[in-house]
Amino acid sequence: MNNQTPPNSKPLRLPVSSADVLADMSASKVLQLEQAYGNGDLIRVLAALGIAGPLRVLDPWQLEDPKGIHLIHAGGYAALPFGEGYAPLVDFVKAYLEHPTSLAFPQQSAASWRAALETNLIALLSHHAASHHDSQVFFSNSGAEAIEAALKFARAARPNARYLINFVKAYHGKTLGALSLTPNEEYQAPFRPLLPDVLTLPYGDMAAFEAVIQKHKNDIAAVIIEPIQGEGGVIVPPPGYLAAVGQLARKHGIIIVADEIQSGLGRTGHAFASLAAGLEPDVITLAKPLGGGLLPVGATIARKHIVQKALGGLASKRHSNTFGGGSLAMAVALKSLDIIIEDNLIDRARDFGERGLARLYKIQRTYPDILSEVRGAGMLFALQFRPLIAPQHLGDYGELAAQFTSGLALRSLHQGGVHACYTLNSSSTLRLTPALNIPELLFDELFDRTERAISQHPRSWQLVPQTPLSSLLKLARLALK
Ligand SMILES: Cc1ncc(COP(=O)(O)O)c(C=O)c1O
Repeated sequence: MNNQTPPNSKPLRLPVSSADVLADMSASKVLQLEQAYGNGDLIRVLAALGIAGPLRVLDPWQLEDPKGIHLIHAGGYAALPFGEGYAPLVDFVKAYLEHPTSLAFPQQSAASWRAALETNLIALLSHHAASHHDSQVFFSNSGAEAIEAALKFARAARPNARYLINFVKAYHGKTLGALSLTPNEEYQAPFRPLLPDVLTLPYGDMAAFEAVIQKHKNDIAAVIIEPIQGEGGVIVPPPGYLAAVGQLARKHGIIIVADEIQSGLGRTGHAFASLAAGLEPDVITLAKPLGGGLLPVGATIARKHIVQKALGGLASKRHSNTFGGGSLAMAVALKSLDIIIEDNLIDRARDFGERGLARLYKIQRTYPDILSEVRGAGMLFALQFRPLIAPQHLGDYGELAAQFTSGLALRSLHQGGVHACYTLNSSSTLRLTPALNIPELLFDELFDRTERAISQHPRSWQLVPQTPLSSLLKLARLALK
């Protein structure tokens, strides 16, 4: 039996034109199309929480939802160093596009924008770690892809070593290689088998690290570590830990990969959080802020001898991608680095970070029955919510309860005018990641609004009666799917 549909003989007219979108599509149409043709259930969950938007940009730091709720932008998962559509960056892009003299994707030639960014990244890195003066950069299009390159570099540099070390609650991305290093059952389980021989250690526990090195010392290719775990819930390791990890790894020739995709280039108050903590990595991955909040740019920086092992001589095409190093992305990243350095945003992140964290501590002390803890590193802030129902009553459903809690808390913050971030490896944590250049008044207002929202439900369970029944039923239905 032939059950193929016959070809349509009518000429195709695409259903949505770019002009339609430019002229503004209605919010309900956007939601309907996303639910039908995109990651529909993600949008359904967000819609049930009343936070699906689409959100309209008022200025780089302020948004509006379709119901007219005014939001201070603390979302963007730490990828927006200057907020949305920051004029100096947008004007620069216009100037770039008006003079298109560079190849868009210079895979087979040298290119000025890429050369400039390589040079500046190495200058920035070697300013903080002189031994990186001749390191080299490989560009890609996302954080996960930057991690993939780092893993391949480490494997090539230590071909006879079997193990990779990662850490509990680490987040390195969701492509298969990066996912193998992201130890979260929800994300890994359906996609096994993953990379074998990954040894996952408790983060911040030097004795555990020493024990594994003692056992496998010559058989460990690399240790991959976030200097501050962002998706783990903004976890800052104990003082001295990162430096000690680095020293021991170096002693045994183990490649040290610092994943600075979230912590690097200013967010945590340092150009490189690893270096600030005394860990001198051999490989550093960067992404999020490098694209200025406008374009995806990933970078893997590695010491020369490591790059040579992976890509030396005619093997230089062993790892490649079509779009990495594209001129527009490089130009945007170059300009973004300029702004971060010239506007002193790294120091600003440190100062504002201290001020914001002091506000959060005060909020936590006032509302300890909903917030068990708050944490911060520069302008990366975390609010840890107590679960709606005590975990001892939940058995296997603890994780689901944590997700419900933070979902309802996200909704409450949104209602109160704060656009916050979920946390991928710590479901009872919400994060605030405002732009590093957010105006001072808005920054203070962000914490005023956060406090006001929390004060509406001083105990976690009070989030439930504040949420419309229809939303709760929709969420329950999605959870049972
Ligand atoms: C530390 C870290 N590494 C890697 C990634 C993955 O980056 P991407 O989402 O661009 O693949 C993330 C994303 O949150 C991250 O925070």
